[in-house]
Amino acid sequence: MKLKDEISKRKTFAIISHPDAGKTTLTEKFLLFGGAIQTAGAVKNNKITKTATSDFMEIEKQRGISVATSVMGFEYKDKLINLLDTPGHKDFAEDTYRTLTAVDSVVLVIDCVKGVEEQTERLMEVCRMRDTPVIVFINKLDLEGRDPFELLDELEEKLKINVRPLSWPIGIGATFKGVYNLQEKNVNLFQSSKTKRAENIMSFDDLSDPQLDELLGKEADQLREDVELVEGVYDEFDQTEYLNGKLAPVFFGSAVNNFGIQEMLDEFIDIAPAPKGRETDEGEIDPERDKFSGFIFKIHANLDPKHRDRIAFLRVCSGKFQRNKFFHHVRLDKDLRFSNPTSFMAKDKSLIEEAFPGDVIGLYDTGNFKIGDTLTEGDDFTFKGIPSFSPEIFKEVVNDDPMKSKQLEKGIHQLTEEGVAQLFTARMGNKKYIGTVGELQFEVIQYRLKHEYNASVSFHPLNFYKACWFTSDNKEMLDEFVRLKSNYIVHDKDENLVFLAQTAGILQITKDNYPDIDFHFTSEFKAVEA
Ligand code: G4P
Repeated sequence: MKLKDEISKRKTFAIISHPDAGKTTLTEKFLLFGGAIQTAGAVKNNKITKTATSDFMEIEKQRGISVATSVMGFEYKDKLINLLDTPGHKDFAEDTYRTLTAVDSVVLVIDCVKGVEEQTERLMEVCRMRDTPVIVFINKLDLEGRDPFELLDELEEKLKINVRPLSWPIGIGATFKGVYNLQEKNVNLFQSSKTKRAENIMSFDDLSDPQLDELLGKEADQLREDVELVEGVYDEFDQTEYLNGKLAPVFFGSAVNNFGIQEMLDEFIDIAPAPKGRETDEGEIDPERDKFSGFIFKIHANLDPKHRDRIAFLRVCSGKFQRNKFFHHVRLDKDLRFSNPTSFMAKDKSLIEEAFPGDVIGLYDTGNFKIGDTLTEGDDFTFKGIPSFSPEIFKEVVNDDPMKSKQLEKGIHQLTEEGVAQLFTARMGNKKYIGTVGELQFEVIQYRLKHEYNASVSFHPLNFYKACWFTSDNKEMLDEFVRLKSNYIVHDKDENLVFLAQTAGILQITKDNYPDIDFHFTSEFKAVEA
């Protein structure tokens, strides 16, 4: 098959949500439809559960299993779908943000009772950074949720994106009767099924049809009113706007009851983007370019201390990846070849001979890769847009066993390369600060340093609000800022300067005092190198 055809067959996406909105359930239903799993529960069992926070070993075990489910490939109709899993646990949010750099679109799940939640907003901010196309699935319609119009308004307001419903709920909670497909103009009557698509679909070209009243009772009039309002308020669905990340089509349903999902999957197949071009420091790279290129967005350690190898996840961006062929590791200026590249089909890992744009493959790594690395067929460009995000919890590393300083150094270095946490170092002296999005990571680091590197650490809490990368065209102001704030300026892993702001108020005052300096919460904008 030609490269062009391989590309147009593929759709690479992720399902994202605030914890508990239904991401895992929806993932599982997609896989069931795609025939990638046969039984419900296969994905669910891999989930890092809430109760697991107090049981660290359990989390590690589950993290181990989750390698296999990191990417779930399946065929649906004539498309090859790569569904990238994102950790549901909020403490692993940075992992999720990075995974979003490797997809071409997302499905965002919203709980109809809770509406837009904290993590929903953050995930959407990350999507907006690259204008990633978003489809919204409003879930749990079998529960007493909020008014659909109110939910849509909240989506627009809080997520800063235009929305366009493509289906409409008939009743909600106890009165939930089904959904009306606004495009196909048919009513899909609600029935609860864990595995099958609902087949109770009736077409209504004209909503004034009295059969609708027989079918829906008093909900029929409500539906007529709602549809009139929807068609009056919202413009026609515009696919280009969706592909530009400006407009999100919205579907309603119930993931656990398998209702409204196949409709969304069918639409997804139609409208979601195939692998797109990617920005590099030398301009955009077209997926149809003959020569291979790709980048590493995730590294997973083998948790068995006897086997130190890791799996680096590479997203293919252009050309064809081939097993045993030499490729160029741009940062190290070194040629490497891979004899055991793997692909992931739901629960199974398998050796692959070749991979195409949109595919995600696992490369066994003995320490050559860090997140953001580019691999090419000889070229020297580097992919952009795989940033670090500002952590929220900061602690100083305290070495509890000075005899093991070397091990500690190596361990911290490797763990932060894997992206478990971010490391910041003081510019004077040797102080090390770790930044994470959740408390759990500190447990993970402490445990892994002890078991994999034989180093003992404890952590001293620090009161910082955000890490800010900064840029400015005003060199004089920049120099003065760096000099006067030196106590709060540290290096990140790539030797960029980072300002640690103690509070939101202090950050605001600093911004006011240094108007020509721009402060950023991601390393995407790093410009100031040490
Ligand atoms: P997450 O990955 O986004 O964290 O959410 P997950 O799919 O695990 O779903 C969170 C909870 O919401 C689960 O209940 C799940 O069964 C439930 N759920 C998902 N979709 C629907 C829906 O359409 N309607 C209703 N009523 N509930 C839904 P749980 O009690 O936490 O787990 P379980 O014991 O049911 O598996």
